Amino acid sequence: MLQVTVAGLKLENPLMLASGILDQNGYTMKRILESGAAAVVTKSIGSEPRDGYLPPVIYPIEGGLLNAVGLSNPGIDNIGGEIKIALSAGKPVIGSIFGSTPDEFLKLAISMEEYGVSAVELNLSCPHVQGYGTEVGSDPVLVRNIVKNLKGSLRIPVFSKLSPNVNSVLEIARAASDSDALVLINTVKGMAIDIVAKRPVLSNIYGGLSGSAIKSVGLRYVYEVKREMDIDIIGVGGIENYQDALEYIMAGSKALQIGTALGKFGKSIFYRISTELAEYLSKNNIRSVMDLVGAAQI
Ligand SMILES: Cc1cc2nc3c(=O)[nH]c(=O)nc-3n(C[C@H](O)[C@H](O)[C@H](O)COP(=O)(O)O)c2cc1C
Repeated sequence: MLQVTVAGLKLENPLMLASGILDQNGYTMKRILESGAAAVVTKSIGSEPRDGYLPPVIYPIEGGLLNAVGLSNPGIDNIGGEIKIALSAGKPVIGSIFGSTPDEFLKLAISMEEYGVSAVELNLSCPHVQGYGTEVGSDPVLVRNIVKNLKGSLRIPVFSKLSPNVNSVLEIARAASDSDALVLINTVKGMAIDIVAKRPVLSNIYGGLSGSAIKSVGLRYVYEVKREMDIDIIGVGGIENYQDALEYIMAGSKALQIGTALGKFGKSIFYRISTELAEYLSKNNIRSVMDLVGAAQI
């Protein structure tokens, strides 16, 4: 009833852990899988280890979180062991990667494939690191080349994670249309001011906003891209309960990712939402959650 297939990948339910939250460590990823997530996405991994920015890098605001972590990660050579531990839960692990050229993405993706991930997710959307993320993901020619280059060389599916902080999400979605799925959305660029210090709160000045405050932005892009394109979509942004999950599914998502809400509700959120989704389906005599994908499209 809750089983979905996205980009050819079979999941026991539509819920995955989003990239960047408790996902650099194999044992935490394994525990999240054992708590009911159908899959986990690793922290975005680059070619070299990165420390990220100086604190403060995370700042809670009403309805969400601002973060400018700066893509801190252990580097591709140090993540294989963690992925191996996570894989011992017997569920799919998806490797998120970031780079600045098609060749860099390809090398990272090949290493991820060797580590045993079920798909790679291209971070084309981090809003706060120069030379990576949105800076790469806002150039349609570069996006097209990155995806094309990977599709010819990998056996596993490719997900492209897009940014809401570009002129036209649809233009970038079309450029990434060789992907097996699109992940919508990464964080929305924002900031906060410390009125006592009279300066920006985050060390990087700008950060990415996540959490319930961005749910309607995520829904809008899932709906819009689904209306225009025939491609699998994974919805992410502000999902906290089964009603949010249903909104994203009815807008056009086949699967979902959850990040910020883990800080508020803990890892039991996966079990809670999937149980409530199953109850909703039974009550309404709906055979499969897949029957609701895009149901709100008019
Ligand atoms: C602290 C933090 C770190 C993040 N790091 C990454 C990352 O490394 N790669 C990525 O693609 N997205 C990253 N994200 C974005 C999330 O994966 C997700 O797209 C976004 O937070 C919206 O979902 P949410 O509202 O459920 O958190 C991060 C988000 C947060 C809050």
